[in-house]
Amino acid sequence: MEWFSKAVPILGLVLVGVGCGDSDEETGPNTRYYEGADSKALGVAGNQADCATCHANDDAKGRPGATLKNIAYHSSFKGGGAATLLDASNACIVGWMGGTALTDSDPRWMELEAYIESISDPAVTTPNAIAPEVLADEAAYESAYAGGDSAAGQAKYTQYCSGCHASGRVVGPANSPTLTQLAAHSVGRIAQQVRTAGPPPSGSADASDTTPGPMPFFEPSDLSVSDLKDIIAYIKS
Ligand code: HEC
Ligand code: HEC
Repeated sequence: MEWFSKAVPILGLVLVGVGCGDSDEETGPNTRYYEGADSKALGVAGNQADCATCHANDDAKGRPGATLKNIAYHSSFKGGGAATLLDASNACIVGWMGGTALTDSDPRWMELEAYIESISDPAVTTPNAIAPEVLADEAAYESAYAGGDSAAGQAKYTQYCSGCHASGRVVGPANSPTLTQLAAHSVGRIAQQVRTAGPPPSGSADASDTTPGPMPFFEPSDLSVSDLKDIIAYIKS
């Protein structure tokens, strides 16, 4: 019965593989690496952010990253900073999620790419503009973002921020601070964090100088100046 003791673990592995819901030609593209446990596992151990935390797969607003709908066939990504869909996705997997870059032939990437292609029109090739709002320093953000309407800000905070900040969601290695912790910061510091993912290290007004941190940045096209003003007024109220 020697074959049997060897075959049992092998059989076990096969069954586990089936149970995980491996996709194949029969099931077609699926969201497995876009949202849920397998997507989160592309990041560092304990990471709770999946692609869907930051990117819609439809036209819905409210997330910091661009929608992945109609993105697969763009001629470049990240405002020219990434040549391929894989490079752009890896920038997120490594930079925000704290994981290891995927390769072209990795089955996880092939499945994720097939999904993004399935929601993309090959005729849409024009890249998205990328334009983070980088002001000189915290004081400049303070004067640009003071004076919002806190009553109007509550619903906007729920839409844009609480998905991470209400649940303490772990993004890459970092916990999202609570509302009380956010409120301890100045208006200028909050605005700077939202617009640049943190204070630029050199303080220069250079878009390439944003600090990639676990918190993604929101461009004005994703979150308007007046909406962010209201959100900050709500946080500070
Ligand atoms: C914590 C938030 C976050 C997570 C998680 C994340 N991204 Fe991103 N991603 C961003 C931000 C912010 C940008 C740059 C700004 C933008 O695209 O609007 C970006 C940019 C991109 C771009 C380039 C967009 C463009 O317009 O050129 C692609 C493609 C992309 N991400 C794919 C992915 C994929 C695939 C995953 C999951 C494996 C993922 N991202 C996970 C926040 C995130
Ligand atoms: C994808 C998840 C995510 C979203 C969405 C998000 N944040 Fe964050 N935020 C984080 C994480 C994670 C940190 C911790 C970053 C670190 O430790 O470097 C953070 C940090 C911050 C900080 C710095 C706090 C500190 O103590 O250092 C501020 C301020 C902030 N967020 C405000 C906001 C606001 C306002 C919004 C909505 C417009 C928002 N965030 C949306 C994940 C998120």
